[in-house]
Amino acid sequence: MSVGIDEISFYTSNYYLDLKTLAEVQGTDPEKYYTGIGQEKMGMAAPDEDVVTMAANAALPLIESAGPDAISTLMFATETGIDQSKAAGIYVHRLLGLNSNCRVVEMKQACYSATAALQMACALVARKPDTKVLVIASDIARYDLDTPGEATQGCGAVAMLVSSNPRLVSIDPEVGNYTEDVMDFWRPNYRSTALVDGKYSTKIYLKALKKAWENFREVSDLEFGDFSRFCYHLPFSRMAQKAHQQLVRHNKAGLSADEQEAQIGDTLIYNRIIGNSYTASMYIGLTSLLENTEEDLSGKRIGFFSYGSGCVGEFFSGTVVPGYRDALHLERHRQLLAARQEIGHDEYLQLYRNQVPADGGEHDFAEGTTGRFRLAGIYHHKREYVPS
Ligand code: CAA
Repeated sequence: MSVGIDEISFYTSNYYLDLKTLAEVQGTDPEKYYTGIGQEKMGMAAPDEDVVTMAANAALPLIESAGPDAISTLMFATETGIDQSKAAGIYVHRLLGLNSNCRVVEMKQACYSATAALQMACALVARKPDTKVLVIASDIARYDLDTPGEATQGCGAVAMLVSSNPRLVSIDPEVGNYTEDVMDFWRPNYRSTALVDGKYSTKIYLKALKKAWENFREVSDLEFGDFSRFCYHLPFSRMAQKAHQQLVRHNKAGLSADEQEAQIGDTLIYNRIIGNSYTASMYIGLTSLLENTEEDLSGKRIGFFSYGSGCVGEFFSGTVVPGYRDALHLERHRQLLAARQEIGHDEYLQLYRNQVPADGGEHDFAEGTTGRFRLAGIYHHKREYVPS
């Protein structure tokens, strides 16, 4: 029996800022963003969107096909927590009409936690193969204005149904891990934006990749040459390209630049125009690979490197299941991306400044999302989510 990802669906906001607009205002060469960091556009959450509404929008198509009673556990991964006690997934549980016997929990370790959720979901399914676990990752990446991180913002959510005999990707049990207590990127509870030591964070990302890969090689018989494609955590596209160059060099694989690009290029297509979505980004990258690769990937092995600042890195592997194309949501994803609306710099600043008041007082949110759920307001410190 295999265990893994049976279905995958993502959601992002209907608004985006083209990075050439940001570059113009800053007096920066747009090629710094388009080529230097490898990003074109960044998604900006609507005033009435947050991690809960994005998560529910991502997961709805999976629940419509599997049925609300099929889910035994909902694991919600985020680093954009909305409450220090109540799990954001409980709101999603209600919005999706899940069974009251379904357990819900929130997971945190920066951008890595969706991978912890996926691995734990696989373990639950391996123990009880007739159950299905819903893993959701949802985040809004936000940095201070006029900082190097500003161009790497974005937002998105991804939902994965984890089951036995999955239709998309079976996940192998062997994993390579690396954990180290470092301060490369963090967001204290009193801040709405992240603090980041940008250059250092890229170095630590690469170190964690090397160490996690070495640990993976100790526990798995798989070698570099066994992999057809690689999905990396995607804070920005260039990061994955640099990571892959390092892995190729480390394994003395001797691949040309084109051969290296062929192993990762299709994973970058969606993230280039959505931006960083923290926990969701590697799995939106996987969706991009499955939906945009012309070659039939059936039976091909994928290497995954998940990274969460602070830091935890994990290298693991999976194999694409024959017939996977029948289980994709390709048309819906393409329509979602094509229907987005470009915004100017003033509108970007308005959305950026759309914050929950610090005292949590009474607040209505302006309508803006084209998704199926919205955050209507906060009343008596309680968030009110409604269908839209
Ligand atoms: N044309 C083409 N390329 C250009 C250019 C131009 N006109 N101008 C600059 N470039 C290139 C630079 O040469 C550089 O390329 P290399 O990296 O290959 O040297 C690249 O564009 C970026 O330029 P800078 O190094 O000057 O960029 P910066 O210092 O202003 O910002 C950053 C880069 C520090 C990564 C910044 O984007 C940042 O802080 N981002 C947020 C943190 C982050 O994403 N870290 C990633 C690892 S941590 C993680 O993965 C977790 C997470 O999700 C946050």
